[in-house]
Amino acid sequence: MNRVETIGELRLQLAVWRGAGERTALVPTMGNLHAGHLELVLKARDLADRVVVSIFVNPMQFSAGEDLDAYPRTLDEDIARLTDAGADLLFQPSEAEIYRRPLEGQTRVEVPGISDILCGVSRPGHFVGVATVVCKLFNMTQPSLALFGEKDYQQLLVIRRMTEDLCMPVEIRGVPTVREEDGLALSSRNNYLSPDERARAPAMYRMLRETANAIIGGARDYRRLEQTALSRLTEAGLKPDYFVIRRAEDLGAPMSVEEELVILAAAYVGRARLIDNLRLSLR
Ligand code: PAJ
Repeated sequence: MNRVETIGELRLQLAVWRGAGERTALVPTMGNLHAGHLELVLKARDLADRVVVSIFVNPMQFSAGEDLDAYPRTLDEDIARLTDAGADLLFQPSEAEIYRRPLEGQTRVEVPGISDILCGVSRPGHFVGVATVVCKLFNMTQPSLALFGEKDYQQLLVIRRMTEDLCMPVEIRGVPTVREEDGLALSSRNNYLSPDERARAPAMYRMLRETANAIIGGARDYRRLEQTALSRLTEAGLKPDYFVIRRAEDLGAPMSVEEELVILAAAYVGRARLIDNLRLSLR
């Protein structure tokens, strides 16, 4: 696997592949790679001739008081995992390479509406940071396709909307969430959990499953299901931020049982803010 740190080196390599008629897939990450990230790389290998992975802990998507400085950085292990998974190129730019001017003066990409609900409420500015860096990475790499995890479902929708609205010629692929055996979605933030918190964390996926089963079993009072789930999460020792049943397409309120649904949850377990979701179709 080749490694480059500058946009110039990245483009030189990409030009060679493009010249040979090869299709490139991009997998953007913030590093500290686990089996969830590697699933994106494996899927990318199936779909494209060349796989570029970026590792950049993007300051623009963290607000003051969040875990930017504490965010785990494990470059040596990441390189070993990406090599095993068969990535062709690692792009690991410095902050100065991505942001040529102070963040406040930086051109931004805002995807209104979908960015302003759920995680966008508790993390103001977060999705502007995500959309901006992903747009920049797309412009640097010009991939045929890019892969994102369904674990960050709202993020996936923000990126799809951005790509559509700005006519970016990039195909966006979602990849199903990779979980631990007890259901906990893999996340770099699971590193923050103490053994006791780790034992409590799977309650989130359990509640998603139970709520989905209730809906499949005929329950239609979504408000009540949401309230029950919130109390049960609190009883399980989590501090829920939200637990909602929404339309999978755009996170709007479900209007009919015919629609594809997604149940989304966010909760603090100790200092870790964990998110998860589960899709279901009643068709
Ligand atoms: P990061 O949290 O490192 O995640 C990188 C990609 O891996 C995202 O598309 C995320 O949805 C996916 N991912 C994380 N955990 C997963 C799991 N358990 N199963 C499947 N996929 C999983 O998300 C980001 O970084 C950043 O916001 C980024 C898009 C790179 C922009 O900075």
